[in-house]
Amino acid sequence: MEELTSSHILSLLLCSFLALSPIAFAAEVTDTLGKGQNVSDGETLVSAGGSYTLGFFSPGVAAKRYLGIWFTMSEDVVSWVANADRPLTDAFGVLVISGTGSLLLLDSSGQVVWSSNTTGTGFMTAQLLNSGNLVLSDGSGGAAMWQSFDHLSNTQLPGMKIGRNLWTGAEWRLTSWRSLNDPSPGNFHYTTNLEGVPQNVLLDGDKVIYRTGPWNGQWFSGVTEMATYSDMFAYQLTNTPSEVTYGYVAKPGAPLSHLLLTHDGVFRRLVWEPSSRAWKVFFQGPRDICDDYGKCGVFGMCNANAPSTSFCSCIKGFSPTSPVQWKMRGTSSGCRRNVMLDCGNGTSTTDGFVVMHGLKLPDTRNASADASITLEECSAKCLANCSCLGYAALDIRGGGVGTGCIIWKDDLMDLRYVDGGQTLYLRSAKSELGTSSSP
Ligand SMILES: *[C@@H]1O[C@H](CO)[C@@H](O)[C@H](O)[C@H]1NC(C)=O
Ligand SMILES: *[C@@H]1O[C@H](CO)[C@@H](O)[C@H](O)[C@H]1NC(C)=O
Ligand SMILES: *[C@@H]1O[C@H](CO)[C@@H](O)[C@H](O)[C@H]1NC(C)=O
Ligand SMILES: *[C@@H]1O[C@H](CO)[C@@H](O)[C@H](O)[C@H]1NC(C)=O
Ligand SMILES: *[C@@H]1O[C@H](CO)[C@@H](O)[C@H](O)[C@H]1NC(C)=O
Repeated sequence: MEELTSSHILSLLLCSFLALSPIAFAAEVTDTLGKGQNVSDGETLVSAGGSYTLGFFSPGVAAKRYLGIWFTMSEDVVSWVANADRPLTDAFGVLVISGTGSLLLLDSSGQVVWSSNTTGTGFMTAQLLNSGNLVLSDGSGGAAMWQSFDHLSNTQLPGMKIGRNLWTGAEWRLTSWRSLNDPSPGNFHYTTNLEGVPQNVLLDGDKVIYRTGPWNGQWFSGVTEMATYSDMFAYQLTNTPSEVTYGYVAKPGAPLSHLLLTHDGVFRRLVWEPSSRAWKVFFQGPRDICDDYGKCGVFGMCNANAPSTSFCSCIKGFSPTSPVQWKMRGTSSGCRRNVMLDCGNGTSTTDGFVVMHGLKLPDTRNASADASITLEECSAKCLANCSCLGYAALDIRGGGVGTGCIIWKDDLMDLRYVDGGQTLYLRSAKSELGTSSSP
């Protein structure tokens, strides 16, 4: 990630030397643009702590210029781009605050290439904070009029959110670049999905191709790695009537980090290691074949350590829907139940539960949650409803079996084993209950 490409060399030439040495030339460096001032190509704003730089860059073809924000020590990682799909064609672009209070990117002929679309009259400034957020304010001390953290590119920094504001309907999501050299919007998106029980999803167009599994109070059920770096980062899943969002903050002393959605549809958590001056990949999703959404179809189970069975098997009490296809490794049609459930009338059923350990919980987009009941009550609630096919604890923070309740009523989809995964209680007919059944 650190290799010097032609774009680096160009930006080295074009960016002012001051920007590269913020400490040595501290007096010359500013993080704020005021009315009547401008940032022209070759000039930069540098955040007060030096971590982030705003300026003009060319990711590939030198003839295309973009205004963006990048990590000062790693110029190839650009966290925000203003004119992603309208590159400038010369080095005469300029960022200004207009008389009417808009932050504007103008081309060499003075045409507006990008605008914050704000209006204001006060003492307008645009400041690059040391969080990497570019904030436009009118000096009144009120809320920001515009901020780059609300306009996501392919990068999530600490303090940024993905998901949805349910009051305004605004959605925050990462969008991939079209290619390594082209920041215009690509096909991949990453966001917090609010249907059913929230989970993060990676989309190709509008199709889910990877999901993290639902939040369990500590991490996403399919991303147990998160436990291993929770000393550096605090994760925040917010699920309230006003918003369903996910973000994280860096704990004191944590190194610089970011989450990146690559142009080829891979989601990564990257952490800067100062000694080697390189980004370390702490997590990557999809991480293996079993993370491909629905790899083994409905009621299929993916085991990344079992290549001899093409990774897929049917869960207990189920058999391949299409044995012929399954033999030929066509597993997407999934599995079907061997013995029908005994639904009963709500008070009497002979069904029980098969206990399955170590899982990324199934897709929760059609599931429902109840945080107020115990796992035992969850079990009773499931048995009492014919449409309940399984349940799991919603929150594992307290240890033990966990608390709260997730109930699935649709076919269970996208099941896999993960290290340190969760327990799913699968509703099964009496004759299918082996020794591992719950009481
Ligand atoms: C930008 O600022 C420079 C120096 O203050 C000034 O000469 C130039 O005219 C300004 N450009 C624009 C487009 O405002
Ligand atoms: C500003 O408004 C224009 C025209 O409606 C729109 O195309 C553009 O996306 C808006 N810019 C931002 C940053 O919202
Ligand atoms: C449910 O079935 C049980 C036993 O078959 C019966 O005793 C009970 O009355 C039934 N309850 C209802 C609500 O139909
Ligand atoms: C959710 O429900 C919809 C509508 O019934 C169905 O089309 C879809 O396949 C379900 N998705 C999952 C993951 O169960
Ligand atoms: C059973 O569950 C379904 C789906 O969650 C729900 O619509 C229905 O009201 C429930 N029925 C009872 C009797 O609780």
